[in-house]
Amino acid sequence: MKLTENALKVLEARYLARNEKGEVIETPEQMFWRVARAIAEAEKIYDKEADVEKIAQEFYNFMTELDFLPNTPTLVNAGRPLGQLSACFVLPVGDSMEDIFDAVKYSALIHKSGGGTGFSFSRLRAKGARVRSTGGIASGPVSFMKVFNAATEAVKQGGVRRGANMGVLRCDHPDILEFITAKEDNKDITNFNISVALTDKFMKALEEDGEYELIEPSTGEVVGKLRAREVFERIAKNAWKNGEPGVIFIDRINEANVVPELGEIESTNPCGEQPLLPYESCNLGSINLANMVKDGEIDWEHLEKTVKLAVRFLDNVIDVNHYPLPEIEKMTKKTRKIGLGVMGFADMLIKLSVPYDSEEALNLADKVMEFINKKSKEASAELARVRGTFPAWKKSVWAKKGLKLRNATTTTIAPTGSISIIAGVSSGIEPVFALAFKRHILDRKDIVEVHRLFEQHARENGYYSEKLMMEVAKTGRISGIAGVPEEAKRLFVTALDIAPEWHVKMQAVFQKHTDNAVSKTINMPNSATVEDVKESYLLAYKLGCKGLTVYRDGSREEQVLNVGLTE
Ligand code: CDP
Repeated sequence: MKLTENALKVLEARYLARNEKGEVIETPEQMFWRVARAIAEAEKIYDKEADVEKIAQEFYNFMTELDFLPNTPTLVNAGRPLGQLSACFVLPVGDSMEDIFDAVKYSALIHKSGGGTGFSFSRLRAKGARVRSTGGIASGPVSFMKVFNAATEAVKQGGVRRGANMGVLRCDHPDILEFITAKEDNKDITNFNISVALTDKFMKALEEDGEYELIEPSTGEVVGKLRAREVFERIAKNAWKNGEPGVIFIDRINEANVVPELGEIESTNPCGEQPLLPYESCNLGSINLANMVKDGEIDWEHLEKTVKLAVRFLDNVIDVNHYPLPEIEKMTKKTRKIGLGVMGFADMLIKLSVPYDSEEALNLADKVMEFINKKSKEASAELARVRGTFPAWKKSVWAKKGLKLRNATTTTIAPTGSISIIAGVSSGIEPVFALAFKRHILDRKDIVEVHRLFEQHARENGYYSEKLMMEVAKTGRISGIAGVPEEAKRLFVTALDIAPEWHVKMQAVFQKHTDNAVSKTINMPNSATVEDVKESYLLAYKLGCKGLTVYRDGSREEQVLNVGLTE
């Protein structure tokens, strides 16, 4: 297998099976075989004579070629005792002590297994509302979020990975202003991403500079009014300050709810790409687009084969999965949602000589995602012919369209934070973040590595020099460096040099062909203004995005990735 040093390190630290003494007991190849074998096992449910070995071999091949990788919990847990394979869950939080603490308990069980949880706190009565049984007053959504946060913190140590949460509150909840600033100092609710659910009513009031009503959820009473522009300003200001809260367009998300009869969608998973019904879970997988280029062109045939096998793989995951709760198993198996997405999109563009912030890149994104979405539906329809439609099909929008599918949704664009490192490519649909990375090697000083494709381009086009590489290593960018041809400067444009509106446009194009949602960060330079943030939100709404996350460079003390050398 062709794995980068970084990939090996990540696999060893978190993925490869270990014995009781904590020693690693499998190679990456053995890990992929363990996963392939466990997922192929589902074939027997539908065909007693199925050639499980043959399909396992196909799964093994497309994973070890790094054409496709499932989400982390599948790689870690398949074929092992825990057996929990999904990355995404949404749990309901009802307005009673029992319901709240049930949700805390369920989320702890999910985190332990490597899954992430999303919650809407919108059903909780507002701070100061009456509690009938005790005659006291309620402490409100934000105070309960701190309880969830503490539980996550405690589970962190023993779990597969740090548990992640999404906390959503509707903009018409009376505590919305407290929620918007809940992460202001970033110390309190550290294990949460937070998002304000904006309604169409809110967006209309925003346009007309009007007010909108606040509603106490426990009684349905109107308890106040806020000026939409004032609230919008506060959201943008906080996001400008430290990247939180994000926004989700909740009515638009529900318009795309394919089984509205099963309930209303209130929240997404932690990174925002997967809106789900309460108790639903979803497993994700991503196709490595960097591998779908042959002789400077997209290899559509290879892409089609990969999509079809990936859909089969993800549908199988639903059957062999060990669910953390019976309710989750029941809900998940009613809709059988899967989330097939992509990674290595920016690398694919570089291989095709197309700059990320260009009309040509938007056109390519449009074509590629339309193709993947279409082929994934074909694959799901083929499975439905043999395995049957998903059980809630009759109640779904697909029944009205006469399209028999095995899965209520097939596409989601995940961040691919870890699996893109394993594949050694750019993450999700993000542009290249930096052209130089600091790497920590055991017992040695950190070394700086220049982006593989950039180094290759420099060598092939005759502008490579040690001195140039050193210069690039200093900042991770080439925008201001002499000696780099203009064409290379365009092609290797990095996240911070791309205008925010191009980030939004790219997210919107992918959203057009994605059933679920798209994970994307709208990167902004440090000099961006609150107005810029507002403009991005409005553009995202206009272009049909389901939500938006902005991040202004340097606005958080702890930054996930630092560009170039810092010393
Ligand atoms: O690359 P990988 O499969 O590990 O995950 P990702 O694509 O970066 O994230 C997909 C989803 O996994 C997130 O939206 C979360 O639901 C979940 N996740 C989590 O629970 N905890 C993390 N530390 C990272 C991801």
